[in-house]
Amino acid sequence: SAAEKGGYEHFMAKEIMEQPKAVRDTISPRLKDGRIVLDDITLTKEEIERFSKISIVACGSAYHVGVVAKYIFEKLARIPVEVDVASEFRYREPVVNEQTLVLVISQSGETADTLAALREAKRLGARTLSIVNVVGSSIANDSDDVIYTWAGPEIAVATTKAYSTQLAVVYLLAVYFAEKLGTISQEVYASYIEELKLLPEKIEKILENKEDIQYLASKFFNVKDVFFIGRNLDYAMSLEGSLKLKEISYIHSEAYAAGELKHGTISLIEDGTLVIALATQTKLFEKMMSNVKEVKARGAMVLGLTSEDNRMIEKETDYALYVPSADEMLLPSLAVVPLQLFSYYVSSMKGCDIDKPRNLAKSVTVE
Ligand code: G6P
Repeated sequence: SAAEKGGYEHFMAKEIMEQPKAVRDTISPRLKDGRIVLDDITLTKEEIERFSKISIVACGSAYHVGVVAKYIFEKLARIPVEVDVASEFRYREPVVNEQTLVLVISQSGETADTLAALREAKRLGARTLSIVNVVGSSIANDSDDVIYTWAGPEIAVATTKAYSTQLAVVYLLAVYFAEKLGTISQEVYASYIEELKLLPEKIEKILENKEDIQYLASKFFNVKDVFFIGRNLDYAMSLEGSLKLKEISYIHSEAYAAGELKHGTISLIEDGTLVIALATQTKLFEKMMSNVKEVKARGAMVLGLTSEDNRMIEKETDYALYVPSADEMLLPSLAVVPLQLFSYYVSSMKGCDIDKPRNLAKSVTVE
């Protein structure tokens, strides 16, 4: 009903708009006196020090959070991280043992492959920690430790606020680990905490300007193919941007590591192909702009997405979208929001069933 949707036309719109609150509810109870306090988990400093690697397992968008997490944990905590989709992890004889932390990410806590992967990890002797939204779900119950995301119930099949809160927990956990392992200074630790606190209001700012994204969606909703490209964290965001779009608009889309384009995919770029170029990472900005030139030379239309610090993106791209400035490690939390809105508006303009896209289920409880 309209009341359940809080006055919005779709649950997806409501859930996109709930993100500032969801992220705040997930982060703020875990910040006390300028420190990250994870009362949720029993892991000690000594146990964290003994992990030789982290193995992340999840499906769908939760897997994409895992791809972001790999970059974040490796950079901040200097622990090797591998990420698998759960259906692959189970059957590849993973090298997982007592020194492995298996991090499981799931909104529902009931995804069959993810649950089976968790059980396999436990059988192999790993320590397990899950990031779950549904309290008391199977994955939460079966993990050694669980950190709940406080997104509240998510109804739309395409996840938005659950993704954002999973990412928020990843940041809390990675900064927490890094501080315990001594891989970041106290100053850097303190600055991440300040940046994390600011995330909800920055998400709010993006939502206030959603009409800019609606306008871009109106330009592109008729396209046949979309390529999302990025490097590093922007590559991880490309995966989610592409999935979101194809799930609800049925437009064929692909995500590509920008540097890999020339090894095959660039052959698909023709006059008018839409390329969404994510370029939030300053160190890689120039490299991304050369990829933009490559696709433009083959006729692509390019929509660039970056932070307010990189206004010069307009020189290379046909259209540009900006998110507020933040520490670059945290920009995925902001960059995902315009990608969600873009998919939402495109799907709406195409008249698709946004909340219940064909062939998809909210939670896949069969293999
Ligand atoms: C389904 C949903 C996705 C979700 C995935 C994993 O495919 O449509 O939105 O990311 O399952 O679900 P989970 O509940 O484990 O996060």
